[in-house]
Amino acid sequence: MHIQSLFKQRLAAALAELTDNAEELSQMVRPTQEPRFGDYQANCAMPLKQSLGIPPREIAEKIVARLQVNDLCDPPEIAGPGFINLRLRDDWIAEATSSLLNDPQLGVEQPVRPRTVLVDYSSPNVAKPMHVGHIRSTVIGDCLSRTLRFLGHHVITDNHLGDWGTQFGMIIYGYKNFADEQAFQKAPVLELLRLYRLVNQFIDYHAAKNQLAGATAGIAEINAQVEAAESAVSAAESAAADKATLKKLRKTAEGLRRKSLAAVASLQSAEKKIADVESDPALAAQAAQHAGIGSAVLEETAKLHRGDSENRELWDKFLPHCADEINRVYNRLGVKFDHTLGESFYHPMLADVVQQLADAGLAVESEGAMCVFLEGFDAPLIVQKKDGAFLYGTTDIATLKYRHEKFQPDEILYVVDSRQSDHFDKLFAVAPKIGLGGIKLVHVQFGTVLGEDGKPLKTRSGSNAGLEELLDDAVAAATEAVCSPERAEKLNPPLTEAEKTTIANVIGHGAIKYADLAHHRASDYRFSLKKMVALEGNTVAYLEYAHARVQGILRAAETDEAAVRNQAAAVIVTEPAERALCLALLRFPEALQQVADDYAPSALVDYLYETARKYMVFNDSCHVMKANDEAIKASRLTLIAVTGRVLRTGLGLLGIDSVDRM
Ligand code: ARG
Repeated sequence: MHIQSLFKQRLAAALAELTDNAEELSQMVRPTQEPRFGDYQANCAMPLKQSLGIPPREIAEKIVARLQVNDLCDPPEIAGPGFINLRLRDDWIAEATSSLLNDPQLGVEQPVRPRTVLVDYSSPNVAKPMHVGHIRSTVIGDCLSRTLRFLGHHVITDNHLGDWGTQFGMIIYGYKNFADEQAFQKAPVLELLRLYRLVNQFIDYHAAKNQLAGATAGIAEINAQVEAAESAVSAAESAAADKATLKKLRKTAEGLRRKSLAAVASLQSAEKKIADVESDPALAAQAAQHAGIGSAVLEETAKLHRGDSENRELWDKFLPHCADEINRVYNRLGVKFDHTLGESFYHPMLADVVQQLADAGLAVESEGAMCVFLEGFDAPLIVQKKDGAFLYGTTDIATLKYRHEKFQPDEILYVVDSRQSDHFDKLFAVAPKIGLGGIKLVHVQFGTVLGEDGKPLKTRSGSNAGLEELLDDAVAAATEAVCSPERAEKLNPPLTEAEKTTIANVIGHGAIKYADLAHHRASDYRFSLKKMVALEGNTVAYLEYAHARVQGILRAAETDEAAVRNQAAAVIVTEPAERALCLALLRFPEALQQVADDYAPSALVDYLYETARKYMVFNDSCHVMKANDEAIKASRLTLIAVTGRVLRTGLGLLGIDSVDRM
């Protein structure tokens, strides 16, 4: 049961007698932060002041007079200017919590209209190692998929692999020119990685050399502009120009100063790339022989796309190894997909897509390229380049059409970095023009993972953070934080080595997921292993500890969750801590609905943390074994068993396993 919705229904019925706007106003009911305002508070009286022409307090009285809630609430109270405070009855709370014990859905009801939701997530570009940026898409997409499924929707997951892009041109070029065949036979993934990095380095090197030529002059020019802008500011200041003018001039100067700093930084980075190669004479000589590498790589990619047999064979040879590489990570993370339809799958459809767009008058030629011009955008969506190549957007249009025909989704979620928002805005603007306006398309965007220095995260080796290395580090940190000899010995019996390994893996991998999901997806967050595995604060270790406590108490009472379920003892609310815990448990459906409404797993993390805290307070103040009344003892065992299942189910929806001892 979704308590908030229940109140909304009741309010809608009461409001219907007072206004035409009942449905909308009935939404204005929220859980309260402060117990003295009740458990929920409705503030729908205030907006009616205008139309009813009486003070909101009187309106609140009218609403309350019509509000039928005495089956679940104490008599509502009116507070302040007209807030309606709703306090659930203790006996209602107790009964509702009792009914969770044997409800496999923990209060979540089947939706009236289940939706078919396709979730496009993870979707890394293969042929290079997965990096920390892919964690976010993978972890957020996995949690959303699990949660929507739990809520009763039909979910289809699809990993839209980048298996067809320039990165393949890079390894094909690398393989043809620099391969070590023996190394490839022995460890193909490593050799491909080496080739990818080498080609990347050479491309960067030549780009940097070209950049360097013009850069110094460019910086001088920007600096001259900075100077001019700054003197314009001082001139305006001494002429006591008006505020708006000054503000504008200062803004211009500031913008230019930033541009100058960026240019200097970019120059320094180019110099470093050059030095990295030239400090090794053999490498420098090799790089010099491949001066045209940038365009050569594009040509290898184009040949692959044109169906060149040699390149196609190489692609067929490489792809399974690339797949092994990412599957290892997915196995470790416990992530599965219903489909893995990569970009290559859509390639045969692209020419038709462009043709259809052209036939419909949507794509037109512009400077040799085929473009879809869209209202409200500065630049068009290019679907075919002058040289005939198709683009990322072309594939996404083909993918959208295919998904529509094959899966008939009501909704598609694209769990992708916020830096791609322009791409998705355009894609979504195309959809209604090709008759797919009925599908709800959502770019579930997320921010960047930062290191402790506030810059995009790097690994120990200084490259883009490799995912596996990060997972290893997290497991090591978890071992240190929660499997220390002192902690292991404290338990009775002490933790075995096998248990320690399991715990370290659950907490290590869980910490990476949990920390990611705990931050609202739209914000960047700082990655701090030490904080992530800590036992205190909003961490996975804290939640696992709460779950293990539950199991520990059940063990001490010589029972377990299954036996408590069979017992089916009713919950009795006697203490404030019991009441608070019950209410938290009853809010599980609300938390999941919030995740679904905002596509924001952080709502579930917040909920679980709050619930674990309520449980810890309960644990300190309400003894189970020492309860002298058998009915209260049995009630508390019920409460603990439900708590265990809510925590475990919630962690499961975050994609995290649970431990029974730690
Ligand atoms: N492969 C892309 C990248 O790594 C993400 C693909 C997202 N999904 C999509 N349908 N465009 O940037």
